Amino acid sequence: MQMKLAEQKAARVEGFLNLREGRLLFALARAARGRGAIVEIGSHRGKSTVWIACGSLSGRAAPVYAVDPWERTGPDGRRHQEVFLENIRAAGVEKLVTPIAMRSEQAIASFDQPIEFLFIDGDHSYEGVRLDLELWYPKVVMGGIVAFHDSVQFPGVAQLMREAVFGSARFANARCSHSITLARKVEHANPIGALRSRLGAWSFERKHARLRRRQALGHRLHKP
Ligand SMILES: C[S@@+](CC[C@H](N)C(=O)[O-])C[C@H]1O[C@@H](n2cnc3c(N)ncnc32)[C@H](O)[C@@H]1O
Repeated sequence: MQMKLAEQKAARVEGFLNLREGRLLFALARAARGRGAIVEIGSHRGKSTVWIACGSLSGRAAPVYAVDPWERTGPDGRRHQEVFLENIRAAGVEKLVTPIAMRSEQAIASFDQPIEFLFIDGDHSYEGVRLDLELWYPKVVMGGIVAFHDSVQFPGVAQLMREAVFGSARFANARCSHSITLARKVEHANPIGALRSRLGAWSFERKHARLRRRQALGHRLHKP
């Protein structure tokens, strides 16, 4: 499937993902070599799921598991889960996507497949995202990709990126693209992989500083 078509399908779905982030997810899913499944934690109404599933279909068609308890109802009065299922069907990716209506910490107990691409976009608290990483990381194959959404704007997610991704030898080539931080799982990062992560950390901190400046300016402008 072409990226343009995926763009049109994802554009019909409400969600928290911009175009560049969607294209990145598409490319990551397309690059999967069939060494494992693709798992998304936090699917909401399916915007990122549609991008990922379309990317997977344009590559080796790795199965996509969408983990979300879907406990809530939207401002339109509709259950997010119902809208998710509708959106997945409308995008024509329902055969590839398996919804798992559980919190990630419950879903992990019965998930028994290797994972080649893990996308974390569920609980954005420090404890929540750390738990997701710790629980699911062991299932990711060596060389697989782990990506985190909202890694710059959410303080808890940003803190975890510094502690457990950019500065960790169990990841190589860590970098941040838009608000998505992604890295490759390795046994132990070699000097080049570690150097790339340090460059990635530097650019992550610049992004973070820019965001803080914008926020500070916003506060000053909105002061009565
Ligand atoms: C920011 S939204 C995800 C947005 C979605 N990826 C998109 O592209 O529109 C966060 C989602 O994470 C889910 N969530 C929160 N805690 C979770 C957990 N522990 N396990 C799985 N999903 C969780 C929420 O139900 C919510 O739908």
